[in-house]
Amino acid sequence: MGGSEDLILREEMLPGVVRLCFNRPDKLNALSLPMLRLFESHLDDIAADTRVRVVILEGAGGRAFVAGADIEEYRGGRRAEFAAYQFESRRIFDKLEALPKPTIASVRGYALGGGFELALCCDLLLCSRDAQFGLPEGRLGLSPGGGGTQRLTRAVGRQTASDVMLAGWRLSGERAYHLGLAAVCCEGAELDGQVRTRAQAMLKVAPLAQAEMKRLMRQGFDAPLPVAQGFEQEVLLRLYATDDGQEGIDAFLSKREPRFSGK
Ligand code: COA
Repeated sequence: MGGSEDLILREEMLPGVVRLCFNRPDKLNALSLPMLRLFESHLDDIAADTRVRVVILEGAGGRAFVAGADIEEYRGGRRAEFAAYQFESRRIFDKLEALPKPTIASVRGYALGGGFELALCCDLLLCSRDAQFGLPEGRLGLSPGGGGTQRLTRAVGRQTASDVMLAGWRLSGERAYHLGLAAVCCEGAELDGQVRTRAQAMLKVAPLAQAEMKRLMRQGFDAPLPVAQGFEQEVLLRLYATDDGQEGIDAFLSKREPRFSGK
């Protein structure tokens, strides 16, 4: 493997759809600090590039999405380095969750620790039957640091979250699907096709509307229902006044495909 830029491979899967592939297959794509920093620079670049509409995350090699933080870097009890990694990963995971474009986690094999937490930050999770989701940090005498204790518990409730964290239980792809953690669970050979189909569908939804709906889902979760509904109304009225809002309505009534400009 060459320089650190190879740690994440970036390719345009379709026009407007970027795939980022975590690429340390010999270490089950364990997330090292250089990899995390490279990930952030890709996120910044994608956020600024209006041509990119959808982001897909996946792991190289077929055995893992990401098997967690690089435990090798945890060796030696260096508290300052450990704290730096944790602060950075929290910030970067939050940035992924807040990216104003749809994100899809395409999970084969292990999604453990930070790998599961990354997937939990994505808007859509598609997985193969051989996927295994877990937060095994307790077995290292530690606890999750990328939001896992909170995002998983909010997503599936305390029973399943306790099973995963306190018993170190792994969730299969099927189980993740039945819990509503994954939108799709399919054979490994079908996963790319399923991801592509979802990405294509996402390209047809107006980008400003996607960014706003993403924000609403997140903000609304932390607010009382009437307040969250207030956010919703504000957004809708704002979108109605955009070029894309008017274009979408006009295109429907004229029986043609809309051409969204993101304005
Ligand atoms: N950090 C660093 N290296 C890791 C890693 C991680 N999170 N996960 C896997 N690796 C490395 C292994 O050390 C091994 O490297 P080596 O070949 O140089 O010895 C290689 O990836 C393959 O993993 P291995 O453990 O041999 O595969 P396996 O099939 O026996 O087990 C797992 C797979 C995922 C069950 C096991 O690797 C594991 O438990 N990983 C750690 C998961 C974890 O605790 N994540 C949370 C971290 S905070």
